[in-house]
Amino acid sequence: MAKKMGRNDPCPCGSGLKYKKCCSGKSTIQHQSVKKMYAQKYNIRLKEKGEIQKIKRAGRLVLKTLDLVETQIKPGITTDEINTLVHEFTIKNGATPAPLNYRGFPKSVCVSVNEEICHGIPGERIFQDGDIANVDVTSILDGYYADVNKTFFVGSPSPEARKIVKVARESLKVALAMVGPGNTVGDIGWAIQKYAEGEGCSVVEEFTGHGIGFTFHEPPQVPHFGRKGEGIRLVPGMVFTIEPMVNLGSKELLILADNWTAVTKDGSLSAQFEQTVLVTNNGYESLTPFDL
Ligand code: MF3
Ligand code: CO
Ligand code: CO
Repeated sequence: MAKKMGRNDPCPCGSGLKYKKCCSGKSTIQHQSVKKMYAQKYNIRLKEKGEIQKIKRAGRLVLKTLDLVETQIKPGITTDEINTLVHEFTIKNGATPAPLNYRGFPKSVCVSVNEEICHGIPGERIFQDGDIANVDVTSILDGYYADVNKTFFVGSPSPEARKIVKVARESLKVALAMVGPGNTVGDIGWAIQKYAEGEGCSVVEEFTGHGIGFTFHEPPQVPHFGRKGEGIRLVPGMVFTIEPMVNLGSKELLILADNWTAVTKDGSLSAQFEQTVLVTNNGYESLTPFDL
């Protein structure tokens, strides 16, 4: 049996500091070993306090950007005008729009209208009264990424538009309720699928939530469908997005000739909401919080 470690002894983590100045408190040591394990086994980089603060700052900026978009989006303007707005506001705030030139994406924000599921490229399309538009903003501030999106009504929504936007919004809400240490990635997808399909809608399978923070898309993938208890176990310090794409008709999709825009195969409406979340010791904290 080893001698009990004193607070003035060298810290077992190998830092060279005294234990009391370093990992004192068993949970910190446990956290460091979990962190190593998640890096080795899953390539997941758990975040520390200072890193989380920086993602949060990026999160506040992307939320402010969406608030600005909400004040400007209306029938008669083009999707490219939303791009200009997002681009200029991001730069003015000392940040970089993450989509621009990401894997060849040509614009600074994704704007996906009606039957477009995601990755819509801003252009000359003019918003019509009754459209729904998903605006997905990701910014890099001081080297850290935050990712958020909402679906907006443009003008007065039809009953179908109201329905799909409500189901997409609630899908994110039921998903967030599953986030906490001990639950799994599969629990999140299971909750979304059960709810959305129960409402007679379908869940897109080709695009997932994702780890985020140091880069745009990190492990793990967070599918919006799945089975309870399956997949990687959530642990404090994990930061990832949840961003369910929900269709009024079938889940099948097509990719347009621009190689980006995903649309529903049956032409039905699609909506999405996204937040960047942190797993905490007793649940979660959204780093891009808005009311659902
Ligand atoms: N923001 C999207 C997401 O939620 C990714 C967009 S990739 C882009 O993951 F290249 F289209 F911008
Ligand atoms: Co995302
Ligand atoms: Co996004």
